[in-house]
Amino acid sequence: MLIRRIIETVQRKSGKDLSVYSASFLKKTLALRMRETASGGLAGYLNLIEKEPEELLCLNNSLHISYTLFFRNIIDFALFENFVFPEIVTLKEKQASHTIRIWSAGCADGPEAYSLAMIADKVISDRKIRSSVMVFGTDVSSANIEKARAGIYNRDPLQNVKLSYLERYFTAKKSQFAVNEKIRNHVDFSCGDLIDPEFSSPPAAIFADFDIISCCNMMIYYHEAIHQVILKKLYRSLSPDGYLMVGESEGLIVEKFGRFRPLFPMGNIFKKNQADFVHPSSV
Ligand SMILES: C[S@@+](CC[C@H](N)C(=O)[O-])C[C@H]1O[C@@H](n2cnc3c(N)ncnc32)[C@H](O)[C@@H]1O
Repeated sequence: MLIRRIIETVQRKSGKDLSVYSASFLKKTLALRMRETASGGLAGYLNLIEKEPEELLCLNNSLHISYTLFFRNIIDFALFENFVFPEIVTLKEKQASHTIRIWSAGCADGPEAYSLAMIADKVISDRKIRSSVMVFGTDVSSANIEKARAGIYNRDPLQNVKLSYLERYFTAKKSQFAVNEKIRNHVDFSCGDLIDPEFSSPPAAIFADFDIISCCNMMIYYHEAIHQVILKKLYRSLSPDGYLMVGESEGLIVEKFGRFRPLFPMGNIFKKNQADFVHPSSV
């Protein structure tokens, strides 16, 4: 099988393991690279990666999809604003705990983490609640994390931002928009590879116990076995009452995992199964 030989060659030459990706995503990416390089099929492409180290870099770049938007899935962010976040606040008040912890895992260059922080800030200040929020954004790409920390964006990723949020949380700078410092101060960005066994949760978070984790539009690119690795990690990092938000095409992956239940008929927000809660070390 030529694909197997390509996987072995890439592993030998660059150390990159292509077998973690879903077969369909890998096929699509190889088809794209074969077209771009006019290598005339898998055998020609195998030949190319044997001889051209630069093509290994191009292939690696094609495997990194970083497309993102602020408030990307409008329904899920509305559910978060109107139901999930207020529920977290109520629970925290009952527990006399005032710090809410959010992790955006696979945050690309930041919009998802900032969107969650903006909603949290709006709910907290509008309702004059005493809680404080810390959002942790992680991504495997250090270039993404650098951009996320800068917090400056073109118009494109802002297409779903409501006018009230635009006025409240962004400052226009020529043709760009900067996320205001008040929000930036509540978001910590760091690098982390969700499929690396050494990485369990954002280092600055010190301990896990997140109230909600968003991991959107990232698992979809990976093989089924990797979904298990990622979901186990996220499950362990959530508080017993924690929520998980995933991308539009990832709900079935979470249902299959079996340790979360969907909260709404529409939307992709799940709640950790309390009945299922066992000591994290045994998961
Ligand atoms: C398509 S973007 C989605 C960004 C954002 N979550 C959203 O839904 O708009 C996928 C992101 O996941 C990151 N990613 C891919 N594999 C990862 C891994 N193993 N660990 C952490 N991040 C990863 C990519 O670098 C990319 O920024």
